[in-house]
Amino acid sequence: MKPDVKSLTHVAIIMDGNGRWAKSQGKPRLFGHRRGAENIKSIVEESIAQKISYLTIYAFSTENWHRPQEEVSGLMNLLRFYLKNEIKTFKKQGVRLRMVGERSRLDKDIQELIAHAEKETQDNSVLTLQVALNYGSRGEITEALRKMVSSGIEVSQITEEKIGEFLYTAGAPDPDLLIRTGGEQRLSNFLLWQSAYAEFYFTETFWPAFSKQEFQKALSVYDGRERRHGKTSDQVQ
Ligand code: FPP
Repeated sequence: MKPDVKSLTHVAIIMDGNGRWAKSQGKPRLFGHRRGAENIKSIVEESIAQKISYLTIYAFSTENWHRPQEEVSGLMNLLRFYLKNEIKTFKKQGVRLRMVGERSRLDKDIQELIAHAEKETQDNSVLTLQVALNYGSRGEITEALRKMVSSGIEVSQITEEKIGEFLYTAGAPDPDLLIRTGGEQRLSNFLLWQSAYAEFYFTETFWPAFSKQEFQKALSVYDGRERRHGKTSDQVQ
């Protein structure tokens, strides 16, 4: 018998393998990124169908600036394109967009497009899509500590909850499930604090080929897992 569907509020995804997928098709890396960006739309649709409330995707890490200039500007142009063109769809779907990451290094026009998209979608409540851009978890925690100290917070007020309030993801629940496509099995500086109790799902499938069906498979694997949060298995029965 299928076990009861356990609560699944927040899914986080490391979308890896665009370049290798493109290579397997005999195409340039940017072709893979374009298909990868298209694939986000179908995973957003499926997240809504599965009644997931938060989806967080790793779109550009603080380390990604070290890629060849041509690839970085290709990714930034893709971002411009989607920020301009997806707002209508987000409104129709009830998607609230939220960017998590350090904004000041992004081009001014991109910062403005992000602010505009966030504002236009702020009242939507079906799914919150958190896009991690110029994001690195250690940088996020360092920045949070700086902000805490400069806000004059007392030592006795420093709690785990308080730290959470200073992270880019403030207000969002922790991820229940973290998926990484593309065969690597590591976190790559993504949501280190927030993923303390997340279940991990790794697949060899490259991101552009990660279909709704594969996504459903990941969700059903999660569904079959026992989450203990440090308790014994008897305690969670
Ligand atoms: C990893 O593929 C993917 C990324 C660099 C980030 C994900 C980007 C997208 C899905 C495109 C949409 C992004 C934006 C900013 C709109 P890889 O290049 O590391 O693949 P490889 O490991 O096979 O080389």
